[in-house]
This record gives sequence, C-alpha cells and structure tokens, in this order.
Amino acid sequence: MNVTTRSCGASERVGDMAAGPPLRPGRRYPWRDGLMIVQETFTGKNRIAANFYNSDRWQQFRPLEQLFLRCFGGLPGARRQILRHLPDLRGRWLLEVGIGDGENVALLPRDVHIAGVDIAQRPLAACRDRFPNRGLFLALAEGEHLPFADQTFDAALCVGGFNFFTDPVAALAEMSRVVKPGGRIVVADELPNLRDYGWGHLLGFPQFDVWLMERFWFGPEFTQLALTNELDVAAVARQALGPHHIRAIWRGFGYCIVGTPRHHGDYS
Ligand SMILES: C[S@@+](CC[C@H](N)C(=O)[O-])C[C@H]1O[C@@H](n2cnc3c(N)ncnc32)[C@H](O)[C@@H]1O
Repeated sequence: MNVTTRSCGASERVGDMAAGPPLRPGRRYPWRDGLMIVQETFTGKNRIAANFYNSDRWQQFRPLEQLFLRCFGGLPGARRQILRHLPDLRGRWLLEVGIGDGENVALLPRDVHIAGVDIAQRPLAACRDRFPNRGLFLALAEGEHLPFADQTFDAALCVGGFNFFTDPVAALAEMSRVVKPGGRIVVADELPNLRDYGWGHLLGFPQFDVWLMERFWFGPEFTQLALTNELDVAAVARQALGPHHIRAIWRGFGYCIVGTPRHHGDYS
C-alpha cells in the first residue's frame, strides 16, 4: 500500500494540470494507492449506496443497467444524450461526481482534464486501473462535501446515483460552488419513480419486485431504499442552481438537469 499526503499548497497552482485541481484552502488529505482519501465512512443513504456499489451485487446488476441503457438510446448513445450538454472542455477541467469505474471517461476527449469523486472505493480503484495513463485525479469523497476550492472546474457532471444521494441539494450546491461562473452543471439519472414500472408493480404484485430486487439485484437495504426513496428533481435544482432546465432522456425514463452555478459567495 502506498500512502502519501498532499496539502492544498501542493495543488494550489491553478492551471498546473500535473498538480491536480486546487483543494479547499488549508485542507490536507492522505493518498493511498493513487486515490485521495477525503472520507472513508458515510452515513444515511450514502452508506447504503457505498455498500451496494462496493459489493458483488453491483457487478451482477451491471448487465441489467447496460440492457436498460441499450433499450433507451443504445450504448454509448444513452450516455451521449447527457454528455452532449457539456461545453467544449478540451484542455479544461471537468469534475465527475460519482465517477464509478469511468464509463463516461471512455467517451470524453483525451485532452479533457478529469477529476472524479466517489463514495465507493471498489469502482474508484477500477477507474484508476482502467485509465492508468489518463492523468485522472480521483478522490474517495461524497458529492455533498467536495474537497476542491471554489470556482475550480469548467463543468461538473453526475450520471447515475443522484436519486439516492443523502442530500442532493447539498451535492448540487457543492457542484455549483466548485464550478466557475459561466460553467455548466449536468446531472442525469433514471426517473425517481422508476420502481412503478417494475413488472410486479405493473401487474399489481409489487411484492414480486421486492423479492426479485432483494434476491437477485440489490439485497435488502438497497432494495428498501430504491422502493421508498422520494426525490423532487425540479425542487432540488431550483434550490441549488442558477438558471437551468430539465430535459427528459432515455425515452422519458430518465432526466437530465442542465444548469449553471448560482452566484458564488452564497455557499461560503
Ligand atoms: C450508477 S453508478 C454510475 C457511475 C458512472 N457515473 C457511470 O455513469 O457509469 C453511481 C455512482 O455514484 C456513486 N455515488 C452514489 N452516491 C454518491 C455520493 N453521494 N457522492 C459521490 N458518489 C456517489 C456510487 O458509488 C456509484 O459509483
């Protein structure tokens, strides 16, 4: 195991791509095996989500997620419905919140400088191993508490997972804080009530969905979260972003928030 520390001073030089994006003033975080460790334990929904994404269950569920995307825009078409809302980022910095194992990284031009945070160490490590020469800056951290300095990034992206964030307003406000004025924030996920389209729900046997999800896909905790979670996407975006709009994607089974940061200073 390789442990080092990097202070904000080491990465304070804005524009120095090798040093990484600047951190919040005065913050120091340890590095382990190429990942900056901001936070290792999580609470609320983030704890449940981190357990799920670190488990074999996520690996087993992945083919079904790919099938969903294939049906609703094809691969990589389903992702391009989201990524097309990013500005031209060549030579500039993008933050991906919930980067996972880097499916979007593979679709972005090589000269985009990418920082990624995630609450799950296993996919984050997979992302590191998948793109060893891409110069990614990867941190174990939650979207609700980003380690980066104000107005650091040209854009922020979040694809999947957002519906189950412990505090989605705080996470969007953090994206707003770290994106430069005039930058872009793009957040997409499935419809929060997608569960209503489960086979069991549609046929009037919701218990069938519970059984299927618990037994084969998510396990008891994440199933409970998926079946009870509520999110008012429009209200969340209104509270945290500047001017924005919300688009339907994936034939109406998903949403994509495309917005700009709020005036800076609101969150300091
Ligand atoms: C469905 S996966 C999507 C991964 C990747 N963005 C993609 O498009 O393939 C959702 C990811 O978000 C991460 N995640 C969930 N809640 C998070 C939070 N509050 N902060 C940061 N990452 C989070 C999960 O650990 C998981 O890796």
